Amino acid sequence: NTDGSEAAKRTAGESAADLVSDGDLVGLGTGSTAAHAIRRLGDRVDSGLDVAGVATSYQSRELAREVGVPLESLADVSRIDVAIDGADQVADGNLVKGGGAAHTREKVVDAAADRFVVVVDDSKVADVLSHPVPVEVLPDARATVAETVRDAGGDPELRAAERKDGPVVTDNGNLVLDCDFGSVTEPAALARRLSGIPGVLEHGLFVGLADELHVGDADGGVATRS
Ligand code: A5P
Repeated sequence: NTDGSEAAKRTAGESAADLVSDGDLVGLGTGSTAAHAIRRLGDRVDSGLDVAGVATSYQSRELAREVGVPLESLADVSRIDVAIDGADQVADGNLVKGGGAAHTREKVVDAAADRFVVVVDDSKVADVLSHPVPVEVLPDARATVAETVRDAGGDPELRAAERKDGPVVTDNGNLVLDCDFGSVTEPAALARRLSGIPGVLEHGLFVGLADELHVGDADGGVATRS
């Protein structure tokens, strides 16, 4: 995602990374904003911080390795101290995530965290969620899920890869339907409905999961809300 200024993303990501304490197991979110947090954690590890990260994607794992954040496998952990993750849109503490198709692992990690800190630039904050909701689907269920999404008032579109012919394939080997529901005035109800569709692995509505929000602006300021 290239919307929003890089400076705003950096201040949000770095201020969240500065909350991490010695001994923490840290959920490492995916995307350009979370990447600033991972880089800052790498700097802090260089200065002696003793933490381990749990990656939410191939991208966050590779970046953590590059900047020297030690990693633990998600399969080996049952709870996380603090997770730091970006979002595509935030309204009233609820999120749409999955712009990078990583929302399934992100939701597992973010939900397992005692403290889930969301990091966004100020272009992501809205009054009502309206961003299309990414839905990860079992490849063979893409048509049946799409039909059910249409029945629920959504407009599903199979996400296409940008530098490859054909669809985006997630880190888990599945496909993504970006489902436009217009304004989502009842995110909890829509989240339940999407979770109930056979063949849906996970959707990008994160309702009631965020504990704190760090919103960066282009002047290098950060507003925090909890
Ligand atoms: C990854 O699938 C997403 O959930 C990202 O966390 C989200 O798209 C935010 O990414 P940016 O920080 O790059 O906007």
